[in-house]
Amino acid sequence: MKRVLSGIQSSGNLHLGNYFGMLSRMIKYQDENDLFTFIANYHSMTTIQDRSELQKNTLGAATDFLALGLNPEKSTFWIQSDVPQVTELTWFLANISGVGLLERATAYKDKISKGLTSNMGLFSYPLLMAADILLFGGELVPVGKDQKQHLEISRDIALRFNKIYGNVFKIPRADLDINNQIVRGIDGQKMSKSYGNTIPIFAPEKLIKKQIMSIVTDSTAVNQAKNIDNPLYQLYSLFLNEQETDLLKDRFLTPGLRYGDVKKELYEKVMEHFRPFRQKRQYLEKNQDYIFQVLKNGADKARLIGREYLAKARAAAGLNYWE
Ligand code: ADP
Ligand code: TRP
Repeated sequence: MKRVLSGIQSSGNLHLGNYFGMLSRMIKYQDENDLFTFIANYHSMTTIQDRSELQKNTLGAATDFLALGLNPEKSTFWIQSDVPQVTELTWFLANISGVGLLERATAYKDKISKGLTSNMGLFSYPLLMAADILLFGGELVPVGKDQKQHLEISRDIALRFNKIYGNVFKIPRADLDINNQIVRGIDGQKMSKSYGNTIPIFAPEKLIKKQIMSIVTDSTAVNQAKNIDNPLYQLYSLFLNEQETDLLKDRFLTPGLRYGDVKKELYEKVMEHFRPFRQKRQYLEKNQDYIFQVLKNGADKARLIGREYLAKARAAAGLNYWE
């Protein structure tokens, strides 16, 4: 049984990109693996300094995970900041990581080019991420393609730590889905909350409909065959099996298809798929005590493992001078 570990940053409404890129795959792992997962609220602090916004997003993301089927009986689920040992390990890792390694991180460069204010937290984001994984012995890390480089950095750092101090950490590996690497947004770019092009999972129905109806299409006439390289086709196929995708392809390639009709069908599909999760979320929102209990138990369990790894790292680095 492998330890599968992943986190998600708690900074906004979950969308189809998060779901198909990583969440649904991660949740499936709970059935046959040892799943560890957390809400990365220390990471959110790199960009959110408003206390109530941070709290709201953190609890909101925890509620989303549980609503989407994360089962606390089968997994270990916690809020990152409830296991603060991870920040100590980050310091260890900072001292064996060159500045150049972090300067090459494209996610950092992207954020800066989009106008986010640079700070040391944002710059060292990949170090905290490596610590998240190593502290709990994560082996397989399900993430979307945009996190691939961060995983490579984590591996590099783990190898370097073991080389300098001896074999303390497992070497993690990214788990990417070859089919759904990048889910496109309604404008055709990568779906991302920072581009405002998402189809959110838990938003009011009206907003979901508005977003789906605004998916960009080309101006091909109704009586002509349509191209399948477009976001409408891609988004729809996320909900279809192979046979159904072939049928959809035929419909696109046969003259007569109206994009508006396909968008309405897609809206129905999205609602049908997420209805049970949306209902569960409403129920969970009224049962905050249950969520707190789950998170508390998860943090207790994660902390036990984190402490063990940290003790090994401290000893390996020579901080156990009193023993
Ligand atoms: P966003 O880009 O909306 O800010 P996050 O960076 O919080 O999303 O991503 C959370 C997780 O979802 C990551 O593992 C990321 O790789 C995955 N993910 C986000 N957007 C997409 C997408 N459009 N396609 C595939 N995976 C995605
Ligand atoms: N950076 C990831 C994201 O934006 C979240 C994250 C934090 C993470 N720590 C992690 C993912 C450790 C996997 C493993 O979604």
